[in-house]
Amino acid sequence: MIELREVTKHYPGFVLGPLDLTIEEGFVTGFIGANGAGKTTAIKVLLGMIHPDSGVVNCPDKTDIGVVLDVPSYDAEWRVSTVAKVLRRFYPRWSDAIFGELIARFDVPTDRKIKQLSRGMGMKLQIAAAFAHDARFLVLDEPTSGLDPLSRDELTEIIGDFMMDEHRTVLFSSHITSDIERIADYVAVIDKGQLVEYAELSALIDSYRMVHGGRLPPNDRLAAAAYGLRTHAAGWDGLVPAGLIAEVPGDAVTEIPSLDDIVVRIAKGR
Ligand SMILES: Nc1ncnc2c1ncn2[C@@H]1O[C@H](COP(=O)(O)OP(=O)(O)O)[C@@H](O)[C@H]1O
Ligand SMILES: [Mg+2]
Repeated sequence: MIELREVTKHYPGFVLGPLDLTIEEGFVTGFIGANGAGKTTAIKVLLGMIHPDSGVVNCPDKTDIGVVLDVPSYDAEWRVSTVAKVLRRFYPRWSDAIFGELIARFDVPTDRKIKQLSRGMGMKLQIAAAFAHDARFLVLDEPTSGLDPLSRDELTEIIGDFMMDEHRTVLFSSHITSDIERIADYVAVIDKGQLVEYAELSALIDSYRMVHGGRLPPNDRLAAAAYGLRTHAAGWDGLVPAGLIAEVPGDAVTEIPSLDDIVVRIAKGR
């Protein structure tokens, strides 16, 4: 089991949780939320990098986890070639061949120091290391932010390659919904330290409708249940639970929401 149970973490002006999250093994879970929502804090608690104030964490053995963070957690003075020499000693299934192959494919210069690598290069280096030690659980924190569209596309492809083995599990966080929409099987949405949605991507999309209303206003039930309800000169719009669709006035236009619609409207509140 990969899970957080009743986890809380307090910082000045911020509370994470109580958070319950069980990662579906064999699938890709996208962890989505605005900046400051608590994604990195939750991931670091899961990885044992910070201690929660309360709650229980279950996570695989360190040697089975591949971690891709903002900045590589290697010594800044190491060269890329040093990484293989050091990690080889820690990981029983380490493969120099796979590491070398990926470093070459990603064009990561082996003589460069860690501190001299660009963000994208640092990400690729960590991904190469995760593959080389045959990680079963890959955790990536905002791997696509700050990357150009080509590198983002490449990274999505690499995660797809990683998932070719059905025993592998991926958790990756992002505030870019389009990246999550492309590769996630499950989506967990976090807002202000609280898990507000956790479902299969298609089921989540299917549980809401974007409604663009005209002159007829929403009834009280609809108005109370809608997320991010907005009124403007031509009418109103909002994200409505699919179960309430029968109550939408006749002049309104209803459409399938994007993941972005869902995240943005939920963040605006009911
Ligand atoms: N070490 C820390 N000390 C104090 N506050 C922190 C610390 N780490 C994170 N926070 C705060 O916790 C909140 C959540 O941060 P974070 O988990 O990094 O969000 P996200 O990764 O979703 O952008 C933010 O308000 C941030 O300022
Ligand atoms: Mg973060």
